[in-house]
Amino acid sequence: MPIPKLVIASANPDKVAEIAIVLEGLAVLIPRPEGMPDVIEDGDDLEDNARLKAVAVCEFAGKPSVADDTGLEIDALNGAPGVYSARFAGVDATYQQNVEKVLTDLDGVQMGQRTARFKTVAIVRYPDGRELIANGTVEGHIAQNPSGEEGFGYDPIFVPVEGDGSTFAQMGEEKHRLSHRGRAFRQLGYMLAEN
Ligand code: IMP
Repeated sequence: MPIPKLVIASANPDKVAEIAIVLEGLAVLIPRPEGMPDVIEDGDDLEDNARLKAVAVCEFAGKPSVADDTGLEIDALNGAPGVYSARFAGVDATYQQNVEKVLTDLDGVQMGQRTARFKTVAIVRYPDGRELIANGTVEGHIAQNPSGEEGFGYDPIFVPVEGDGSTFAQMGEEKHRLSHRGRAFRQLGYMLAEN
């Protein structure tokens, strides 16, 4: 069976690079068309936002598309930043500003209370309206200080439970074995192979 070609909704090079590694041999990713307007991500949850992006790109390109949405849930912040993970410190916040806001908001919160998880929802959408959907979660905690240079976003402060105490930003490709995105897109890859 030929490898499926999917137009990828994300224009974030950090995310696209990770997805390409996880889907290697399972799907070929095509950049989204030039001139495609940004999709307003105003859904209530990760699945809504992933679907908004997948449907918009599928309709614009007229081809099967793939989109994902990720959120970081921190228990001591009642699940924030969640769907607001990209703009936690403001609309145009940098990764570093978002990390600093998390650390400031958790100031004084002890290690045992810093539990958190990343969740990803990944959706493949076909022009006839069919859909494949996969979820990935990784449990962990928020470190007291940033460590590591790899990855992106909140990686310097996220320590997965199943690792050796390193942050995602200290791990390199080991991140994909454990991560929310690795789990969601591996599952999606198996679904594509069976579809
Ligand atoms: P998005 O909606 O999937 O683009 O993700 C929202 C935000 O969550 C991003 O802007 C990053 O700040 C953060 N994020 C997403 N995925 C990861 C990850 O794998 N590691 C760390 N931060 C991430």
